[in-house]
Amino acid sequence: MRMAAGAAPGKVVLFGEHSVVYGRPAVAATLGLGLGAVAERDPDGPTLRVPAWGLETHPKDGKRRLDAIDRAFATAIEAAGPLDERVGITVDGELPPGVGLGSSAAFAVSILRALAEWRGRPFSPAELLAAAEKVETVFHGTPSGLDHTVVASGGCLRFQGGSEPPFKAIRLAQPVPVVVAWTAREGSTKAAVADLRVRVEAHPAVYERLFDTMGDLAEAGIAALERGDHAELGALFDIAHGCLNACGVSGPENEQMVRIARRAGALGAKLTGAGWGGAMLAVAAGDVAEAVVTALEEAGFEAFATQLGC
Ligand code: PMV
Repeated sequence: MRMAAGAAPGKVVLFGEHSVVYGRPAVAATLGLGLGAVAERDPDGPTLRVPAWGLETHPKDGKRRLDAIDRAFATAIEAAGPLDERVGITVDGELPPGVGLGSSAAFAVSILRALAEWRGRPFSPAELLAAAEKVETVFHGTPSGLDHTVVASGGCLRFQGGSEPPFKAIRLAQPVPVVVAWTAREGSTKAAVADLRVRVEAHPAVYERLFDTMGDLAEAGIAALERGDHAELGALFDIAHGCLNACGVSGPENEQMVRIARRAGALGAKLTGAGWGGAMLAVAAGDVAEAVVTALEEAGFEAFATQLGC
């Protein structure tokens, strides 16, 4: 039976979430955890199944309102076209949706790669980025581009809006051992960004200085990554988390996850992504990483040890 497949990793933001919205640099890297898409012949196609997210959809079903995932799937089909639409896509993987680990970008890129193989012509890197941006726009309105660019390109990237080029690859001296944990989010990225905007308008001078500091942390983090200095990276994570707390985006569960990771011996820990719940990123290797994962799981969080940028 004819089959085609595509895969894509998730991502984490190491530095610069929120301050990137105000023009400062951000750093993101791919995770050793992602999604895979398989395309098979389906006479009722195009159809989409994501069993891990409890989802089955049919974008041409006119009887019901199309939600974001239907529209994103329809956008991917269009971007990959023309193709034989008698195709069913099944997406699977361990990446949780909606916690800031790049699930929508991994969804877009894995499906696009599978559809490109299905039609018999792979995307060029530039075509893949353009198509993934269209799909991400369905989910996020006006995405900064950070998520789908790092997910489609792989590795570790510096991003700064308005700089030319906006994305630069960061060469890691060695793989970065981390623990990632997550919990349900209390709101959307859009709501967290809008909420911070209100605080910035009330205290603009204070926040401009804070965002400068967050930008400095991103640059210092890049230097630590390029040297392979994971102790320094952890120390910078701790400071970055304090800045995000000052931005008002760290919820009680982010604080709890960060505290547990540090107590279990991590070299440093921060919330990652938009905040208000969502994900936590800690620098930890070997036995310490195992101890951090166990401590987080005992407290009821999902957690796993992996490496960044691979
Ligand atoms: O959507 P998340 O959790 O990956 O966070 C995005 C990072 C923000 O800086 C908060 C928003 C943005 O558009 O850059």
